[in-house]
Amino acid sequence: MKAITTSRLATLPLDGKRVLVRADLNVARTKTGKIENDFKFEALLPTLQLIKLRGGKIILITHSGRPEENDQNLSTEQFVTWFKERDFSTYFAKTPTEALKESKTDQYDLVLLENLRFFPGEVNRDPEFADELKKLGTYFVQDAFGSLHRDHTSMTLLAERFDAEHKTIGLLIEKELALLNYLKKDPKQPFLLIVGGNKAKTKLHLIEQLLDKVHTVLPSPALVFTLLKAQGIEVGKSLVDESCLETARSLLKKSEEKGVNIIFPIDYLITPKSFETPVPVEVCKKIPPDATGVSFGPETAALFKHCILQARTILLNGISGNQHYPETLQGMR
Ligand code: 3PG
Repeated sequence: MKAITTSRLATLPLDGKRVLVRADLNVARTKTGKIENDFKFEALLPTLQLIKLRGGKIILITHSGRPEENDQNLSTEQFVTWFKERDFSTYFAKTPTEALKESKTDQYDLVLLENLRFFPGEVNRDPEFADELKKLGTYFVQDAFGSLHRDHTSMTLLAERFDAEHKTIGLLIEKELALLNYLKKDPKQPFLLIVGGNKAKTKLHLIEQLLDKVHTVLPSPALVFTLLKAQGIEVGKSLVDESCLETARSLLKKSEEKGVNIIFPIDYLITPKSFETPVPVEVCKKIPPDATGVSFGPETAALFKHCILQARTILLNGISGNQHYPETLQGMR
């Protein structure tokens, strides 16, 4: 008989209790702060629904972007509608003090705190800020999967303030850990890793961790530019993490030794302008010195699609391609 596993979150006595949830709702937003892509919200939803079902009151904390000051377009206030539309009566609190006051009333299912990074104590690992956040919940649920590598107050100091009986991980992290365990054991082959995004250091580390298991790697922009430059290939003004070039070279050497296929894009979308906004693009095979690579091109999309269809296990990490050029990504669908 198959063992039935129960999530620890589902076993905690949450009825009538305040449950502080650290989420990662750091999603792409428009210039005026509207949510462009809500997949992180959807991924968090089961945790919130379970807490609500079990009678807990949710106090939700997240960061959004990397605000220099209180940039109102990065406020979490604009997230309130999303939760309301999913039947959470939601209160937006500008400060932890306001959140604490509201969390002790019965009026709302969910109290959403302002962007954590509006408070200097978040990034500075301020113990006093951790104490302030701790007051918001009797229980603490860590479900910010995409931020587990960050040593910020709400990601590290805060959890230390709850004893083992009063903290747990959320359903999203549980699911991701189960998947990662599967991938580290015996994934069905061919195991394909599609990896993109701009945090070269963490992405290179991920590839290295999986070198013994993975069959093929498809490096995508922006990570791919660091890997290309490490081999002395021209990438123009494309995003490169110069501090990672040596690591990238050593990784390429190791993958060759281990017989891992690293399939590079065969064409790119380039622009003479900035990476941030949709701008006219051209397709090219080689990136000229004055151009910026923004995504891969249609021939690469077709090639990657072929690899995807051959694979029996796929791990997608980071943004692959560029959402501003969906017509290219169509080729992969
Ligand atoms: C992410 O989107 O990668 C996470 O939310 C972490 O964001 P950060 O790199 O700004 O800490």
